[in-house]
Amino acid sequence: MIQGIGLLWLLSHAPQLVAAVAYSVPSSPPSNASPVLDAAPVGVSLEFFTFPGYMENVTSTMACLRNFRDLTGSWPPIRIGGTTQDRATYNAQSSAAVTYSVSNPADAPMSLTYGPSFIDLAASYPGRVIIGFNRRLNNLANTLAAARLAFQKMRNLDSIELGNEPNFYTNSDPIAGGTWNAARDRASQIEWQKALASNLSTSNIISAGVFFGTDNFNNANLAREEGNAIATIKNFNSHNYPQWAGTYNLARLMSHSAIATQIAPFKAEAMAAKAAGKEYILGESNSATQGGGGISPTFGASLWIVDYVAQSLLLGVKSVYFHQGTIGNCQYCWWGRYSMGNPYYGAYFITAALAGAQRIAPLDNFSNNFGGYAIYKDNKPIRVLLINSNYYESGTRSRESFTLTGLPSNITSVISKRLTGASAVARHDRGTPPHLVVKLSKMGRV
Ligand SMILES: *[C@@H]1O[C@H](CO)[C@@H](O)[C@H](O)[C@H]1NC(C)=O
Ligand SMILES: *[C@@H]1O[C@H](CO)[C@@H](O)[C@H](O)[C@H]1NC(C)=O
Ligand SMILES: *[C@@H]1O[C@H](CO)[C@@H](O)[C@H](O)[C@H]1NC(C)=O
Ligand SMILES: *[C@@H]1O[C@H](CO)[C@@H](O)[C@H](O)[C@H]1NC(C)=O
Repeated sequence: MIQGIGLLWLLSHAPQLVAAVAYSVPSSPPSNASPVLDAAPVGVSLEFFTFPGYMENVTSTMACLRNFRDLTGSWPPIRIGGTTQDRATYNAQSSAAVTYSVSNPADAPMSLTYGPSFIDLAASYPGRVIIGFNRRLNNLANTLAAARLAFQKMRNLDSIELGNEPNFYTNSDPIAGGTWNAARDRASQIEWQKALASNLSTSNIISAGVFFGTDNFNNANLAREEGNAIATIKNFNSHNYPQWAGTYNLARLMSHSAIATQIAPFKAEAMAAKAAGKEYILGESNSATQGGGGISPTFGASLWIVDYVAQSLLLGVKSVYFHQGTIGNCQYCWWGRYSMGNPYYGAYFITAALAGAQRIAPLDNFSNNFGGYAIYKDNKPIRVLLINSNYYESGTRSRESFTLTGLPSNITSVISKRLTGASAVARHDRGTPPHLVVKLSKMGRV
């Protein structure tokens, strides 16, 4: 980067002509800037049963995570969990990391066991790890036995989840005792938190909540009931998938203003965590449920990741963990046993944009498909991130110009990096990867 500021351009070219956008860049972080950023705000969530497979059989896993480490100096945080954490039983006698059988390799198992080597594998990751254990099957002693081993072996342990998305538990799940609702879940979470913290003689260990969405199962309600069990909690955890199977819409997924609307309900969750003195994370997230259908492996989804991370950080989220599901059957995954998933480029781009930075602030009011962010270090803007999220698929493709004012007058040149693709629906795995266009320019027109 030359002379203090780099401009990061992110353009997907507009389908219709729109008036030019003008943003003023504050010379120091404004009052609506994010809290101080984590060194590695972009992480991954690895589905529980398939975590050993990702680490042992998919060479891209460590290579792709190392690329992020090379950008930021910190390994991205990982979370091990998901639906199958609540189908898993610890077996101290098992020599295998994980044991299950499925009739089709594209399926997730309905039941599985895991042994001590599963924990060893988690302990070997060089970054921070959240590990999710089972609550649904109501086997507290089994979960405590696994958690004890994790606590002893994992010097990289960030926190432990007790159950995944309990808002989806049903009356017939063993933990429910015949009736399941948000109040019973809160009582159950708090009872298990206390049991675990007392068993380990520790505090600040639980990743709490782990709710999908923000309906009546939510972290604000849970935090309100914690009482002195609040000391057991390290962070409050929400899961978010903007789109549901059957209603996929890529233009809506990537739209700058639609992202703001979609994540707005999580603001109250972040504020409740902050009021309790705890971190707030999006512990599992991706574009769409059920693997993400046709919208998730696209260039549009990689633009979504860039903007979604930026906006989540403004809400007060510490890190976003993007879920990676069944190897070989996962539309939104960033890698697997094929070339690359387009979304990885978006994750790489936002990781680069934020590398070494301390705060991010919005330059616009989220009212249309264009967005801008100033990125600060030592209270000075070091980069600007610009977003054009207009949807383009075919036909005439137009351009949008962005004018920035307020930049320090002694800046003489900039580096621009523009992530662009052939269209919103372009897919690397079908031969159309995105492009990164890098230019060094004199101040003026980039
Ligand atoms: C530009 O000016 C600012 C404020 O005086 C100063 O902190 C900064 O170091 C200068 N940058 C360069 C590249 O001269
Ligand atoms: C790795 O792949 C081999 C060959 O397909 C398979 O037998 C083994 O179970 C896999 N290991 C894990 C941990 O998934
Ligand atoms: C912790 O839980 C394990 C597994 O249930 C149990 O064997 C052990 O006695 C407990 N220890 C304490 C200190 O509660
Ligand atoms: C938001 O920004 C747009 C365009 O920059 C502007 O026209 C509009 O008045 C702003 N809305 C609010 C509520 O500030």
